[in-house]
Amino acid sequence: MTTTVPASTFETPLKFAYWVPNVSGGLVVSTIEQRTDWQLPYNSALAKTAEDSGFEYALTQTRYAASYGAAQQHEASAFSLALLGATERLRVIAAFHPGMWHPGVLAKWLITADHLSNGRAAVNIVSGWLKDEFTGFGLPWLDHDERYVRTEEFISALRGLLTEEGYSQDGKYYSIDDFNLSPKPVDVPGRPHPEIFFGGNSTAAQKAAGHVADWYFSNGRDLEGYQGNVEGVLASAAEVGRSPRFGLNGFVIARDSRKEAEETLREIVAKAHRPAVEGFAQSVKEAGQSTADGKGMWSDSSFEDLVQYNDGFKTRLIGTPEEIAERIVAYKEIGVNLLLTCYLHFTEEVAAFGRDVMPIVRELEKDLARKHGTELDASQIPDVPGVSAEAATAAADATLPSDPSAPSTDEEQAA
Ligand SMILES: Cc1cc2nc3c(=O)[nH]c(=O)nc-3n(C[C@H](O)[C@H](O)[C@H](O)COP(=O)(O)O)c2cc1C
Repeated sequence: MTTTVPASTFETPLKFAYWVPNVSGGLVVSTIEQRTDWQLPYNSALAKTAEDSGFEYALTQTRYAASYGAAQQHEASAFSLALLGATERLRVIAAFHPGMWHPGVLAKWLITADHLSNGRAAVNIVSGWLKDEFTGFGLPWLDHDERYVRTEEFISALRGLLTEEGYSQDGKYYSIDDFNLSPKPVDVPGRPHPEIFFGGNSTAAQKAAGHVADWYFSNGRDLEGYQGNVEGVLASAAEVGRSPRFGLNGFVIARDSRKEAEETLREIVAKAHRPAVEGFAQSVKEAGQSTADGKGMWSDSSFEDLVQYNDGFKTRLIGTPEEIAERIVAYKEIGVNLLLTCYLHFTEEVAAFGRDVMPIVRELEKDLARKHGTELDASQIPDVPGVSAEAATAAADATLPSDPSAPSTDEEQAA
């Protein structure tokens, strides 16, 4: 397979993001100890640690109901605003479902969030997989590919309302009649409007993302699988002359030795909530598996893969910092512009990733750029103080619940 990766990918330093743990239970459905919490004090300290460690983005999750862990959830738009208020440079990407929100209401929210944060607000438009959230609210649950028809229209309306005076659109799901939102978003050099991310893996998702997204986000994937996604999105983008950028999820286990990292993965999986993971496997059949070609998110995921519910183990960011950095740069070579990461112990591991992994990535990126006949534009690498191991541990200690041994609601729910 030959993917034409644009030269700008090699010139531009990779961007790093982390998943905001705004739902309880951490990012793996397992009883293994996770020094991670879902409440605001922990998340504010984490966000500050992340921006001081070189992370440029944080991504919140939108979840309305308990499902296979995540017994408690904070709403994405409100939580994202709080994180923007707690930070100075971090861009916060809030997740939204078409079908739950109207694009005009979201555009208005986004413009206000952008002004409150001096141009740091972004959105991730997700088409949904948890049918019960829609049917439980009495909302229509569309067939898989139809959800992406709606999403494409939703993003067109959103972008039109963010950027145009007197925007009109005549759609199947959203019609807008000569509408003007005022003010417009903050004028940030190099950014035409707040960035619009898009999450999905299936053929329909790739098509819609190519047509309308600024950024395409995929679940965890191996190199070959990810290359297929890039091909699909680029082919669709070429139909309309767009050039989206690419993000990829990965669960990071960086340890002093590969053996230690792999043992941690084994322990996570050995301590998985089996009924919860199996229930999740049933529910996600509403995603790519329900389509004509059966391709898409979770369609080829094993039990082990689903313990990290966004397939983060598949990206194999598991080993020493050097091994992980090499793997990350291999993904950059096939088109990744942004790495979305998650961890067992977020605050400590985000700081360690910034200290131990990012500097090696930066060196390898220079070599990669030269290999492709260009130079890395190092002026775009965030200039940050870094966070020591002691400071990260202290930040986590100060914000974690005082009794970590108390049974969590996630364990009760999954039992
Ligand atoms: C990076 C990323 C973030 C996502 N965040 C959410 C979310 O917050 N809430 C949600 O319901 N679905 C989320 N999804 C899942 C999508 O809603 C959608 O169900 C999934 O991508 C379907 O994949 P498919 O195109 O293979 O059917 C996310 C997907 C990706 C890739």
